[in-house]
Amino acid sequence: MDIKTGRNFLRSNWEKHTQFVSDQQKGLPQPPLEKPFDSDSKLYDLVSTDMINLGEVSLKEVIAKRRSRRKFKDIPLNLKELSFLLWATQGVKEIIRNGYATLRTVPSAGARHPFETYLVVHNVERLPKGLYRYLPIEHKLLLIKEKDLKEKIIDACLGQRFVGECAVTFIWTAIPYRTEWRYSILSHKVILLDAGHVCQNLYLASEAINCGTCAIGAYDQQKIDELLGVDGHDELTVYIAPVGKI
Ligand SMILES: Cc1cc2nc3c(=O)[nH]c(=O)nc-3n(C[C@H](O)[C@H](O)[C@H](O)COP(=O)(O)O)c2cc1C
Repeated sequence: MDIKTGRNFLRSNWEKHTQFVSDQQKGLPQPPLEKPFDSDSKLYDLVSTDMINLGEVSLKEVIAKRRSRRKFKDIPLNLKELSFLLWATQGVKEIIRNGYATLRTVPSAGARHPFETYLVVHNVERLPKGLYRYLPIEHKLLLIKEKDLKEKIIDACLGQRFVGECAVTFIWTAIPYRTEWRYSILSHKVILLDAGHVCQNLYLASEAINCGTCAIGAYDQQKIDELLGVDGHDELTVYIAPVGKI
């Protein structure tokens, strides 16, 4: 890859939208709104959005306070706080047009919402340490693997120790086809624009509950994808963020 190819990735290219026919236009079925899961998986209930009375602070104050935090207190997050952060970043408000799309707490090009949220839990009340996936439609957590993954996540993030020395590490993967089905070759720039909104909501929601986070773009693609058990092609990690009390 060279600089020119990299810069081209920043371009819009929407003026070329008549030059391709997307799978949606071809009438192919749309991919699921959320990654499917086995019905016999171990699921954890989260606190329902109506019951979350957190984060009721001034937006101006939170925006002014926001900064990247790389030092966290050794204090657990509780399930209500974690539920709030998951809702703020990917929470589903409505499923529209008979399952055509979800409307969430963040915007997404064409409401495609191409992300899955994985959590490496280090210190959250009532959750064993391990790897989880958020089910945004059910608002539940799916346990993938019960294991202490602190050193693995630090290693996958090029030795940035604070990424594992926190209460919980958020890892967002993209399933590109969710956006490609509609926007074909125009998808990849907007997928990353979408990701920025998700992480910004995590910054603001964290600050609102005396927690902090730091966006992580420097990581080893293969190591982190292997840790999550995703193939790196049809689903791949795009962004990471540790969260802890400050
Ligand atoms: C896309 C992106 C990737 C980043 N990657 C890292 C990272 O890998 N490690 C890190 O310590 N900070 C990372 N940061 C945080 C920036 O260093 C930080 O936002 C910047 O220094 C400005 O500080 P502030 O966020 O406190 O305003 C990243 C930020 C963004 C937006």
